[in-house]
Order: sequence, then structure tokens, then C-alpha cells
Amino acid sequence: MDENPAVHQEMVTTAEEQPRSDEPNPMGCNKYRSLLLVLFASSLFATTLGLAIYSHLQKESQWKSAAPPCLSPACLRASEQFSLDMDPFSRPCDYFLYACGAGGSSTNKRRQRVSGFSNEDNGELDKKREVGMGGLLRMRREADVQGKSDGRLDKFPDRQTALLKAIKEILESPEEGVSKSAAEQKAKKFFKTCMDAESPEKVGTERFLTLLQQLGGWAVSGEWNQKDFNTTLTLLMSQYSTFPFFNVYVGPDSGEEQNASNKHYIQIDEPHFQFPIDWNSETHKSKASTRYLRPFYSSCGQYLALLGVPSNGTTQHCGLYISLSTTLAVATSPLRYRLSQKLLYHRITIRELQTRASAIDWLACLQAIFQPLPISQSDIVLVHNLPYIIHMSQTISQWQSLHETMGTGPLHTYMIFSLLQTLIPALDSRFFQTMRNYSIVTGDTQEEMPRWWRCVQQTERGFDVLLSHVIRERHAQKEAEELIHDVYSSLEKKLTDLSWRDKTSSGFILNKIKSLNPRLSTKKNNLSHTELDHLYAEMDLKEEDFFSNFLQMLVLEQKSRWRLLSHGTRTEGLSITPSISGNDIIIPVGMFVLPFFHSSYPRALNYGTLGSLMAKDLLHLLLPDIHTQADNPESESMCVWSHYLSVTKGSGQAGTFSLPPSKQQEVWVQYSALQVALDAYKMSFTRHPTDSSLSGLSYIHLFLSSFTKVTCDADSYREFMPFEPSFLVTVLCSSSGFCPKSLTCLNKSQSSPHEMCQSRTLH
Ligand SMILES: *[C@@H]1O[C@H](CO)[C@@H](O)[C@H](O)[C@H]1NC(C)=O
Ligand SMILES: *[C@@H]1O[C@H](CO)[C@@H](O)[C@H](O)[C@H]1NC(C)=O
Ligand SMILES: *[C@@H]1O[C@H](CO)[C@@H](O)[C@H](O)[C@H]1NC(C)=O
Ligand SMILES: *[C@@H]1O[C@H](CO)[C@@H](O)[C@H](O)[C@H]1NC(C)=O
Ligand SMILES: *[C@@H]1O[C@H](CO)[C@@H](O)[C@H](O)[C@H]1NC(C)=O
Ligand SMILES: *[C@@H]1O[C@H](CO)[C@@H](O)[C@H](O)[C@H]1NC(C)=O
Repeated sequence: MDENPAVHQEMVTTAEEQPRSDEPNPMGCNKYRSLLLVLFASSLFATTLGLAIYSHLQKESQWKSAAPPCLSPACLRASEQFSLDMDPFSRPCDYFLYACGAGGSSTNKRRQRVSGFSNEDNGELDKKREVGMGGLLRMRREADVQGKSDGRLDKFPDRQTALLKAIKEILESPEEGVSKSAAEQKAKKFFKTCMDAESPEKVGTERFLTLLQQLGGWAVSGEWNQKDFNTTLTLLMSQYSTFPFFNVYVGPDSGEEQNASNKHYIQIDEPHFQFPIDWNSETHKSKASTRYLRPFYSSCGQYLALLGVPSNGTTQHCGLYISLSTTLAVATSPLRYRLSQKLLYHRITIRELQTRASAIDWLACLQAIFQPLPISQSDIVLVHNLPYIIHMSQTISQWQSLHETMGTGPLHTYMIFSLLQTLIPALDSRFFQTMRNYSIVTGDTQEEMPRWWRCVQQTERGFDVLLSHVIRERHAQKEAEELIHDVYSSLEKKLTDLSWRDKTSSGFILNKIKSLNPRLSTKKNNLSHTELDHLYAEMDLKEEDFFSNFLQMLVLEQKSRWRLLSHGTRTEGLSITPSISGNDIIIPVGMFVLPFFHSSYPRALNYGTLGSLMAKDLLHLLLPDIHTQADNPESESMCVWSHYLSVTKGSGQAGTFSLPPSKQQEVWVQYSALQVALDAYKMSFTRHPTDSSLSGLSYIHLFLSSFTKVTCDADSYREFMPFEPSFLVTVLCSSSGFCPKSLTCLNKSQSSPHEMCQSRTLH
């Protein structure tokens, strides 16, 4: 079974690295006999080496020449993101300890290297490189570095940022032909007016004050026509997406067995409060944090000042506003408490809800929100904290009768303040700054997002259906479907091969995994251009009037709620993590954006990057079942961990330190994700036995570098890892024969147990 692969190496020796003799691969390969041919160094930087490799992973598929370079614009952008810091093979001694850290701290390193170019330009290697695409890349790179003020290494953005950037690019792209898509033009116009609307001169407060008058004014300004409570509340919820006293949304009943029918329900929940709430776990009571009430009061005063209310009204009205808010907040409780008390997903008919919480006209309210759907007294709704709803209703009744005679209208003022919060993105930047200043006081440490970021988010709220279709058209073509298919198939294979604790439960889990059907989020909700245009037909966007456009967007958002209730079609497109819905695993198109995926990328890059992220997400999604029922997660993760200990601490100590279960689990997930992604790549390679590459790297080399890069930069689970996730490449390479070369650090004693952690999927 062990055919010695011929290994021919001709490589540059760096300080850290000795050339290895042509020894046979110590592991040998059972199925995949690697033929490694390292041709010559070729890389982005002159200092280190690159590899080109002849290899065949499978008997039948053999490629004869180095991978042809991918020269698409997306690839050129991607090669700039691959620095040798992320190449696991360039510094085998320290990459797994420092590689991830290097991305952030290597400002100086990069400067040195970049300035070092001229010294090394005489080198033999460089001449070779000039001929190929290396030269081209280098020119681009130098230009880029000069243009970059901070000189930071190109890190992958997190996935949310990547998605927002992709949407921004779509929204800013020039119109291609007038008739292209009316809906797309509207989204672009919305975004443009949002970007333009920052200055108070352009927006002012007039528009809000006019709207306030239409709602009957308020006692704060002394002009208030005492409009009916229920009417105003219904109007705010149905037309302005504003939910002052309780929140309303749509979703499945989590208590119901996963069922293909996947029925959606109206859900009623606590509202969002503007201030932090403390939970006393002994008395089981909530209380607004007193130290934030003073700043809250002062921000209330600032809003009123911006709206031109004389300051002598502030004390009374802001005082009442805070008093009502804190009274309501008393009955809220944190999710974990509600879970333990079984307060979530309480099923109740609208008729019964009316008897329990009579201050709200529930039927009229819900009918208005979901019009034109028929809603009747006997319909079931799911309530997530009935005690709060009852308390809220009692509070409203009390305050109503208490203040009726005084004419201070605190319930109405409360609702208008809620509306103001909803509309802040459409008002001028002084309102936003006031809100922002208050959130900083309450401990919000996030840096302020740039305006484009906020505008993309606002556009997404109304145009999510359109945007997910545009992303699919532009980014997630056939290649995306293939990636999903390959990753899921190899995941299924991996899970089938696990050793399960008992037959019946493994049968159940494996059946479930077989019956689940992964699909791109846009697949079921595939609308034509005409249908999309129809969806947005009623929108009449104005060039210079973001406020009016924003109000229309709120109506659109409202419509997506009733679409969800009536058809069960959510626009899953703009999330970034897979979810289960009925028998489908929904893979959002939002995952398929640069720099994680592009249809022109080498597949080694797509599978190494998005393939491994997707495998990780899917494993996390399915994990609760797997972890309790199979033996492998524990044994495999302990194996990887002792490998790590033996490499870093010297042998003999393996097994001395054990891992807490959450880390154990994460190690297994991440290692499995790497294996699954690699298997998926091999699967795709069997189908199309050619691929392109970047920077002259071999396929497997590019795959592993991509994995390292993405786990270092954009892995949301990294905090649960006891070591840099890129170390997993070392483990993989020591237990399989197809890495370009050994990742053994030659200073280290060679006694570490290299044969551990083999996995069946790899052999
Ligand atoms: C699935 O839904 C159907 C119809 O809605 C129902 O008859 C069936 O009992 C449900 N199955 C489960 C497992 O809940
Ligand atoms: C505030 O002052 C104005 C005039 O100075 C007066 O008309 C108004 O009634 C005062 N409002 C309150 C709430 O005292
Ligand atoms: C809202 O309408 C309901 C049902 O008609 C009624 O019972 C309740 O008193 C009204 N609420 C207020 C505050 O007027
Ligand atoms: C927000 O806080 C900053 C810094 O404290 C201050 O300069 C600015 O005036 C505040 N803005 C508003 C609208 O309150
Ligand atoms: C979506 O519909 C269009 C035509 O309306 C069709 O060409 C395309 O293949 C469909 N895409 C998917 C993923 O079903
Ligand atoms: C390996 O050896 C090199 C040179 O001898 C040294 O600079 C480096 O720090 C060593 N690495 C480790 C991990 O000991």
C-alpha cells in the first residue's frame, strides 16, 4: 500500500527552515499517493518561498503542470490578501503560535518587507517572478501599499462587514441600462438619499413636527387633541413599524416538532427599552438601572430642545416619560429566567389575551398590522412573557385614568418618543448624536459605524428581498450550489462514519441528517424581475427627501411581516449563518460574498475559505445531537489537544492538561470542518479535475493557506479554541500524506506522536 512518492525539492533555505532530504513521506498514504514536486520559489515577497507542486490526489486525476494563475479582478484582489504570514508552510516553527496574532501586529513587519523590495530585486528569484504574474501582482501591491495610509495588513473582514460591503458595492454600482430593474433603481435611490441626508439643513425637524401634528400633536407642546389611545397605537404599529408597549413579530413555534409544514405564528414579546435594566436574581424582579436615569433624562431634554419645545416643559414630560418607562420595565425578565419559568411560547387565543390584558384592543391592532390577512378572535398567538403583558395592560389602565383629568397625556407622549426613536435614522445627525452619546454613557464601546454602514442597513430593512436576489445573480451562481452540495455530502459522510453510542439514537440522527435538504436561501423564493418590480411598485421615492423615503421603507418592512405570516417565506437571504427551517437547511446567499467566495476564484480558495466556514456552521447547527451521542468528538479533540501539548511543551506532558467540554467540542468542530472542507474539495476535484491558483501556490497549498487565513481573521468561534486554529493544519499534515511538505519544526525533538489523530475520512 505504501508507494514511495518521489519528492523533488528545490527550494530556498531560509533562516528558519532547513531543506529536507528526499525521504519518503513518513506517514505514507493509503489512498492518496502524493507526488510532491516543489519547483521553485515564487511568492509575493522576495524573502520567502513559494511552491508549485505536481501532485495527484487520486489515481485517475493527475494534473500535469502547475496550476494556471487566476487573473480575474476578484483573484487579483484576493492575492493581495494572501501574505506569507498566512502561509503555514513558510514558518513551520512558529506559525501555529503566532500566525493569527501576526495579522494585527505586523504593521512594522510589513513596512520592512515592502521597503526591502529594492534590496532583493536583484535576486534570481525575482527575475523569474517578474515574468509570471508575480510581477504584475507586485506592482499592484506596491501601488496599493502606498495608497494605504495605515499600512495595515489586509485582514479579512468579519462576515457581517463583508456582506454589508458587498451590498454597498451593489447599491453604488452604475445603472446598466435604464430598463434593467425598477426595483433595483429604487433601492439605489433610497441608499443615495440616505447618504445625502445627513445635514440638518437638508432635513431639519419640520418633517417630524408635521407628522406629529397628523398624529394629533402632544401635550409636550401644549397642542394635543387627545386622540384615542388604541387608534394611535394601532397606527404606529401598522404604519411606522413602532412598537411602544410590546413587540410583535412572526415566527414558528419552537415547541412544535420540526415539521415540514413549518407553520408561522404571530408572536408577542416585551418591547425594547432605551435604558439598561438590572435583574435581581434573588427577588426575581427587574429594575431600571438608576445610574443611567439621569443621563437618560438629559437626553430626553436634548431631544425636546431639538424639537423646539421650551425648556420649562422638560421637567414634567421627561419625568413622566421616565416614570412610565421604569414602571413598565419592572415586569420584564431576562431570557434565561423566562426559559426556566416556561414563559416563552405561551399559546393563547386573541380572545383570551383580550380578557387577560384588556387595555389594548388586540384584535384591531393585529388586524391592522397584518392587513389584508384575516385575523380572528380564535387565532392562536404566542406570548413570550404573559406576566409582563398583563402588567403592561394594568399600567396603561391606571395611567389612563390618573392623567385623563390632568391633560398631561403621558401614554401618548410615550408613544411619540417611541416613534422618534424609530425615525432617528431619518432625522438630522444631531438626533443621532444625542442617541449615540447616551448609548456611550450606558457602556456601548463599539466605535461609531460610518454612515454608509448605517445606510446599507436601512436599505436592507426594506429591500432585503431584492438585495438577496441581486447577490445571488452576481455572486452565488452554479459554483455556490456546488459548494453547498459538496460540503454537505462530505459532512454526511463524516457523520455516518462516527462511532455512535447506541444504534437507535444514531439511526434517528443519521435519518435526520439524510432528510435535511441544504439549499440556497433564494431558491424557494425565486422571483423574476417583473415580480420583484411588482413588490416595490407602490414605492414612490423622492430624490431629495429621505424622510419620506424612510417612511415608505417602514411600510415595506411591515409588509414583509405579513408575507412571512401568510406564506411562511422569510427573506433568509441577508443573514450570514445557516439555519434550519422545516426540512431545509437554509444557506443564506449573504455568505457568498467577497472575499470569502467568488465564482471566478480557484476552487481551492472557495473550499478552503467558505467551505470550511460553512462546514463549521453546519456542525454547530447539528451539534447538540451529535455531541451527546457519538464518541468521536471527545476522543478526536483530546487527540488533537495532546498533539498540541506535545509539540509546544515537549513530549511526555501529553494528557496532563485536560480541556473543558466547551473547548473540547470546539476543537472537534474546527478540526472536522477542516477535514470536511478538504473532502468537499476533493469531491469537486473528481468532478472537474482542474482548478486555477493564486501566487503560484499548488492546489492543496492554496487550500490550506485559505483555511489558515480565514480561521485567523474571520472565525467567530475562535474564542472557544484553546490554541490558534491554524495549528489544525499541522495536525492534518502529520496524519495525512498530501501536504506540500512536512510541518514539523526541525528545532523540536522529533518524538511527538505524529501518527495520532488520523481520521477515517482521510484514508
Ligand atoms: C406535521 O403537521 C401535520 C399537519 O400540519 C400534522 O398532522 C402532523 O401531526 C405534524 N407532525 C408532527 C410530527 O408534528
Ligand atoms: C412655559 O413657558 C411658556 C411661556 O414662557 C408658557 O406659556 C407655558 O405655559 C410654560 N409651560 C409650562 C409647562 O410651564
Ligand atoms: C383600547 O381598546 C380596548 C378594547 O376596545 C378597551 O378595552 C381599552 O379600554 C382601550 N384602551 C384605552 C387605554 O383606551
Ligand atoms: C455628544 O458628545 C460629544 C462629546 O462629549 C459632544 O461634543 C457633543 O456635543 C454631544 N452631542 C450631542 C448632540 O449631544
Ligand atoms: C430563478 O428563476 C429564473 C427565471 O425566473 C431561472 O432562470 C433561474 O434558474 C431560477 N433560479 C433558481 C435558483 O431556481
Ligand atoms: C528554531 O531555531 C531558530 C534558529 O536556530 C530559532 O531562531 C528559533 O527561535 C527556533 N524556534 C523554536 C520554536 O525554538
